[in-house]
Amino acid sequence: MRRVLAIGVGAGDPAQITVEAVAALNGADVLFELERGTVELTLARRALIDRYVTRDPSPPIVAVTEPARDRRAADYVGAVDEWRSRRADAWAAAIAEHVPDDGCGAFLVWGDPSLYDSTLAVLDEILAREPEAFRYEVIPGVSSLHALTARHRISLNRAGDAVQITTGRRLAEHGWPAGVRDLVVMLDADCSFRHVLAEPLDIYWGAYLGTHDELLRSGPLAELAVEIERVRGEARMRKGWIMDLYLLRRR
Ligand SMILES: C[S@@+](CC[C@H](N)C(=O)[O-])C[C@H]1O[C@@H](n2cnc3c(N)ncnc32)[C@H](O)[C@@H]1O
Repeated sequence: MRRVLAIGVGAGDPAQITVEAVAALNGADVLFELERGTVELTLARRALIDRYVTRDPSPPIVAVTEPARDRRAADYVGAVDEWRSRRADAWAAAIAEHVPDDGCGAFLVWGDPSLYDSTLAVLDEILAREPEAFRYEVIPGVSSLHALTARHRISLNRAGDAVQITTGRRLAEHGWPAGVRDLVVMLDADCSFRHVLAEPLDIYWGAYLGTHDELLRSGPLAELAVEIERVRGEARMRKGWIMDLYLLRRR
């Protein structure tokens, strides 16, 4: 049976890839490259392959063109489901065509595959349709969340306490979640911390973590919000894209 690997490759710093991930990359017969995101991220993945894949001959890299998502759809969940289904079609075809019988194909996943990433959901969807298509394994990676806490030298949780992880969209729509003291916000296109400025919060913010463009700020949210918005806006303008996340910690 074919094998498929979802390999977490870290969130930006090429040194933050595990020994297990490097071994998995070298064990694959084909590496799938998903054509999405920015050119810079594609180049970053290529740099990882160039640096760590030492197998000779190196496995071919096959680009899988990702279908476009309808971002204007009123039914967000329905649109994402429909998109995942079309992605499953494209991935299933690529796996069937390029992974030899009893061979192994690998998807390089940004950060860790279990954190706000749809790779596993797409693979599950293929298997729901065709259970014998392949079996898959997940190789964990250093997530952007852990890159953030490491850079700020903080624990993710406070002693005996809980942490919630959410999206910028949810924070903007629902405000500060009841009963939560520590909130990680990812996938935030619009500085959603603006919606909770009245709360007594500290922010630990990071952008482009692990790269040469890394930006960090930490301190009282009320004092830093304007500066982070400005710095973030300038960086986004300069580079044409941004990836950032933050921990909000109630004092
Ligand atoms: C689709 S999610 C992927 C998360 C990834 N699976 C992980 O483990 O970090 C993309 C979001 O992760 C965060 N992110 C990923 N890489 C980042 C980086 N190098 N610096 C800052 N944020 C990052 C941002 O919040 C971004 O919007």
